[in-house]
Formats: sequence, C-alpha cells, structure tokens
Amino acid sequence: MLNIYHSIIDLNEYLDKARLAGKSIGFVPTMGALHAGHISLIEESSRQCDVTVCSIFVNPTQFNDPSDYTKYPRNIESDKIILENTGCSCLFVPDAKEIYPDESFKHITFDPGPIGMILDGAHRPGHFAGMAAVVKRLLDIVVPDKAFFGQKDYQQYLIVKMMTAYYQMPVEILKCPTVREKNGLAMSSRNQRLSPDEREQAAMIYKTLTWAAHEISAGNLSFETIEKQAMFDLMANGKYNVDYFDICSAETLEKLNFNKNNEPLAILTAVWIRDVRLIDNILV
Ligand code: PAF
Repeated sequence: MLNIYHSIIDLNEYLDKARLAGKSIGFVPTMGALHAGHISLIEESSRQCDVTVCSIFVNPTQFNDPSDYTKYPRNIESDKIILENTGCSCLFVPDAKEIYPDESFKHITFDPGPIGMILDGAHRPGHFAGMAAVVKRLLDIVVPDKAFFGQKDYQQYLIVKMMTAYYQMPVEILKCPTVREKNGLAMSSRNQRLSPDEREQAAMIYKTLTWAAHEISAGNLSFETIEKQAMFDLMANGKYNVDYFDICSAETLEKLNFNKNNEPLAILTAVWIRDVRLIDNILV
C-alpha cells in the first residue's frame, strides 16, 4: 500500500515507527512526471532497503529559466498509480511552504566550489545552489539510510555526494544507471515535451556519446578533435544548439585535453531540441 503524506509531521510519525521496528529507509527524491528511470531507482531502493520513500516536489529554486519551471510536466495522479504499481512504500508530496517555511530556507545552501561552476553550473546559473538546498532539506526531513540518484544527472550526483560528505550526513548516496528509450535517448521527464519526431532526432545524443567513447578507447584522435566533431554532428547544420560536449575527469569533472594518468573519464553533453534542454553522459 502506498502511504501518502503532505506534511513533515505525518511523514516523520510514519518513519519513526518504521525505524523503531528496525527497518532501513531508502529515499528517491524526484520532481514527478515519473518514468522508467525513476522506477528503476525505486526498485533499487526496494531491493536494498525495507522502506522506500519517494518525494515529489517541483523545486522552483533550481530552475534558472522560469518558463522551464512553468512547462515542467506535472502528472501527480498518474505518478501515484506508478508508485503504487512499483511497490513504493511511501510518497511525500510537500507544498512549497513545508519545504521553505520562510525565504531564508531558500538561501541556505552548499557551495561545491569549482565543480558547481562548470558544465550545467555555467549554463544554468543558480541551478546547483537551488538543487543542493532542496536535497539537503529533503535529506534532513527523511533522514534515509540510502538515497538513490540517476547517472543521467551525473554532476548533480557528484555535488550531492560532496555535500553529504561535507556535512557528515549519515546517508549513503548511490548512483544508478541511466535508463534509456529503445533508440538510446536517456529517460527524462522533459522528453514528454518532445514530439515523436524530435524523440527520434534526440537519439543522436547517445549515438554521439558512444561514438566519442569509442574514439577515446581507439586513441587515434585528440580529445579536442573528438569534442569538435561531436559538437558539429549534434548541431546538425545549425538545427540544434549544444551548450557543451566535454571530456572530463569522472571524479572532478575537470576538462581534460588528454588522459595522462589513465583515469576514469566522463563525457557530458547538454543539447537543445527546440526549447527542450536535454543532458546525457557516458562514463569511460
Ligand atoms: O533530479 C531531480 O529530479 C532533482 O534535481 C531533485 C534531486 C529531485 C531535487 O529537486
């Protein structure tokens, strides 16, 4: 049965009972419009923990573009059905007053330093500050043993991991694989805003990432050449805008020109299909 809570007090009463009964708590924070990617996080949490809490809160402070916030898909009724069918124990759907009782709550945030200023940090000013503030607040409310994040938002995952280590929060942050549509497009709530044709076009994002990964392994082209060729292909004769296509250290996200130390790499990209911004990455 899916228990649904809107207030922190009611959620805590439920979670206190679970803890007293010796149950471990897994947490999947989301902004709703649930898809197979979220379901895989909830399933992983249910495998690893006795109780799984999913939160749905479309956090206004992490949208640098107000129209992206307005257009963000909201499907609360179908989300409840999905959670029920996935065997999620508990849904937390707070309103903004519950998360931000006053303005000061919006400003208390974690500054991750350089890793928050590059890639999405550079292209979406304020995004990671808003994201870190809400994730900290949600983790403080739920106090889970484990929290599950998708690899699609790899920079977000690294920042959350850094933040929880910095505050010595008693939670394990886990990264789960990106779930993809048949054509390779990474599952994202924003995909709902694409037409069927655009979804097909967007498949080129993953194709280009896998091409780049292959070229890195082959070692024939410089990173700069790979990035330039990838940007060129993704732009498709000026049809699409590409915010970045960067080959980086998987640990620090520092952009690399070559892999001197043979370290794990992450290739990350953000592409605009019309007015829909899609991100994806691949680890090499
Ligand atoms: O990845 C998301 O959906 C959001 O950034 C998160 C983690 C739920 C915080 O609002």
